[in-house]
Amino acid sequence: MLINPLTKNVTDQNVAADLKRYLGNGGYEGWRKAHTMAPDKIIDLVKDGGLRGRGGAGFNTGLKWSFVPRGADAPEQKFIVCNADEMEPGTFKDRLLMERDPHLLLEGMAIAAYAIGASIGYIFIRGEYHLAAERLEHAIEEAKTQGFLGTDISASGFSLEIFVHRSAGNYICGEETALLNALEGRRAIPRAKPPFPQVSGLWGKPTVVNNVETFCNIPHLVEFGVEWYRGLGRGEDAGSKLFGVSGNVKNPGTWELPMGTPIREIIEQHAGGMHDGLRLKGLLPGGGSTDFLGPEHLDLRMDYDVIGRAGSRMGTGTIIVLDNQTCPVGLVLNLCQFFARESCGWCTPCRDGLPWIVKILQRIEAGEGRSEDLDLLREQCQRIGPGNTFCALAPGAAEPLQSALVRFEQDFFNHIKQHRCPYR
Ligand SMILES: Cc1cc2nc3c(=O)[nH]c(=O)nc-3n(C[C@H](O)[C@H](O)[C@H](O)COP(=O)(O)O)c2cc1C
Ligand code: SF4
Repeated sequence: MLINPLTKNVTDQNVAADLKRYLGNGGYEGWRKAHTMAPDKIIDLVKDGGLRGRGGAGFNTGLKWSFVPRGADAPEQKFIVCNADEMEPGTFKDRLLMERDPHLLLEGMAIAAYAIGASIGYIFIRGEYHLAAERLEHAIEEAKTQGFLGTDISASGFSLEIFVHRSAGNYICGEETALLNALEGRRAIPRAKPPFPQVSGLWGKPTVVNNVETFCNIPHLVEFGVEWYRGLGRGEDAGSKLFGVSGNVKNPGTWELPMGTPIREIIEQHAGGMHDGLRLKGLLPGGGSTDFLGPEHLDLRMDYDVIGRAGSRMGTGTIIVLDNQTCPVGLVLNLCQFFARESCGWCTPCRDGLPWIVKILQRIEAGEGRSEDLDLLREQCQRIGPGNTFCALAPGAAEPLQSALVRFEQDFFNHIKQHRCPYR
C-alpha cells in the first residue's frame, strides 16, 4: 500500500521527475479519472476526503472549492491560483515538491481547474525559487506536448493554460488577496474580505487559491478515493503531510509522514534528536508565526485541532526547535525583525507596532531593558492581535512573542536584571 504519495517520485538526487518517469509511476491517473467524473462529484470527494489546506490555516479544501459560483448565472471566466510564495520562516516544504516532482503540482491544479471550471491557472512562486520555476516551466511544456494541458484536452472540450509568475518579493505576497493584487500588477496589500476570492478574486472573477502541497494531495485523493486517503492519517486528520524540522537538531530536513505523527517522533526519529549536550526548551510547531509549545507537548499528534487545543497552530507543519543554549529573546527578536520588515504598512497597529516591538526587544537583548518593558510588550501583542489589523501578518507575528513572554518569562527578567544577554 502506497504510504508516501507526495514524495514517491523524490529521490536522493536533486533532479525533477520528468514526464516519462512521472507517467511510469502512475502519473496523471488521477487526472484521467477526474475527467470521467462530474465536477460536482470531484468537489464532494475532496470535501469528504477531509483534505485541509496546507498553506497554514487548515481550511477544508473541497468546501473552499464549493463556494465558487456555478450555473448559468456564474461568470464564465474563473481562475485557479497556486500559492508558491513560501516565505514563512522555517518553512521549506513546497520547494521540495516543485523542484523534484513538478508534474504532481500540475496534475493537482488541472483536476482543481476542471472541478471549478477554470481555464487559466497561475503559479505565484517566490522570486528566489529559480530552480523550481524553471523546472515547472519545463514540466508545463512537457504536459502540453502530451496533451495533459492546452486546448480541448483529450477532446473533452475542457482547456487549461498554466503560467508561472515569479514574485517580485515580500512575505505579504503570500497572503492570498495581496497575492492576487500582485498578480494583477498592483501594490501587494491585502484586500477586504468578503468578498472572498472564490466569488471575486483575480480581476474580479471567481478564483481558488491553494497552497502547493494542497494541490499535490489532489491526484492521489481522486485516484484512490476517500476511504484510502483518510486511512493515511494516524490521528484526527486525513492524508499525509510534509513535516519539517529546523534548529539545533542532528538531521534538519523535511519528510512525508502521516498526519497525526507525534511531535516527538518527528524530532527524535526523523530529525535525529537534539545535538549532543543540548536539551529541547521549546518549539514552534508550524513555522515562525505560531505560538511556542514546550517539552510537555512532545507526545501530541501533529493534527490541526490537537495543536490548536494545546494553544498553538499546525501552521505549515514545519517545526522550529529552540534549545537550552539559544536565547529565546534573540530568537523572537529575529522573527519580529522579519515581520516588521515585511509589513505592507497598510494598517497602523502593524506598521508602527511591529517596529516598536523590535526596539523594545533590541534594548532588552542589549541589556538595556526596563522592568516595565514586559508589560509594554504584552500590551503591544494585544494591539496587533486578531481583530485589530487588516490581515493575519501582525497577529501571526504576535504569536511567538506572546507565548515566549509566558513560557520564557524568566529569560526576559534575567536580561533586564543582569543588564546583558545571559546566553552570550
Ligand atoms: C502574511 C501571510 C503570508 C502567507 N504566506 C503564504 C504562503 O507563502 N503560502 C501559502 O500557501 N499560504 C500563505 N498564506 C496563507 C494564504 O493566505 C492562504 O490561506 C493559502 O494560500 C490558502 O491555501 P490552502 O487553503 O491550500 O492552505 C499566508 C498568509 C499570510 C497572512
Ligand atoms: S496587518 Fe500588516 S501586513 Fe497586514 S495589512 Fe496590516 S500593515 Fe499590511
